[in-house]
Amino acid sequence: MLGVPIYDEDVFIQAGALYIPRTVSDGQTTTTFNFIEIPLQVRIWLTKHIVFGAGGYYAQGLGSASVTSKSMTRLLSDLLDFGKIEAGKFSIEKAPIRVEEALAAATETMNLRAVERGVELVVRADRHLPEIFGDKDRIVQVLWNLIGNAIKFAPENSEVVITALAETGVVTFSVSDSGPGIEKENLPCVFDRFWQAEKSATKGTGLGLAIAKGIVEAHGGRIWVESTPGVKTTFSFTAPALSGN
Ligand SMILES: Nc1ncnc2c1ncn2[C@@H]1O[C@H](COP(=O)(O)OP(=O)(O)OP(=O)(O)O)[C@@H](O)[C@H]1O
Ligand SMILES: [Mg+2]
Repeated sequence: MLGVPIYDEDVFIQAGALYIPRTVSDGQTTTTFNFIEIPLQVRIWLTKHIVFGAGGYYAQGLGSASVTSKSMTRLLSDLLDFGKIEAGKFSIEKAPIRVEEALAAATETMNLRAVERGVELVVRADRHLPEIFGDKDRIVQVLWNLIGNAIKFAPENSEVVITALAETGVVTFSVSDSGPGIEKENLPCVFDRFWQAEKSATKGTGLGLAIAKGIVEAHGGRIWVESTPGVKTTFSFTAPALSGN
């Protein structure tokens, strides 16, 4: 079937548009469209070259198609989560969670990215932590975003430190890095949807912390940030201890 396009370009673009949540209707909508359209257009181009078997581009095209597919999948699931949080329809399934398991799941996945950036992930957890009561996948998702941000901003050859401490009725998780940090006047904005410091506006969509906040609050916890620019930035959140319920 070489030479026969599998997909029509318009169908691709329309398929992408279908996923754009109608609830995001403020001045940020254009940004969302761009983030969806760009990976879609890259896929259209790649698909053409793969379908037509365009010489040496074949293997390279498949690799790039896989990367853009992953970023699209992540973007669409972020938009879906965010839409549910905004609509008050975000639900979690609670069960006892061993903190060590959540930390291991989060750090194992992020370790490759850390190594690529020359950053070391250091975990410091209290010895006798109580179990927490929550949705393990969602707690890991919060840790992924905080660790991902820390790795993104940490200087090369530095450490990102992840801690878990038992406190009254809760376990407090923290993720610290020694990157540029967040200016004092911007601290109140960091959990706002689509907010990004100007210099980081090209790296991500600015939804990660808004979703993290929604997840933590759905567990009855709180999330906050402390930053001394250029010295230390720490994002922390609490999750309810099982024994505290
Ligand atoms: N550890 C950090 N150090 C410095 N700035 C940070 C840090 N974490 C977050 N920020 C700032 O907060 C912004 C919002 O973070 P958030 O995780 O919501 O979005 P993002 O990482 O830009 O994109 P996404 O998570 O949706 O891929 C970042 O763009 C950055 O400007
Ligand atoms: Mg992020």
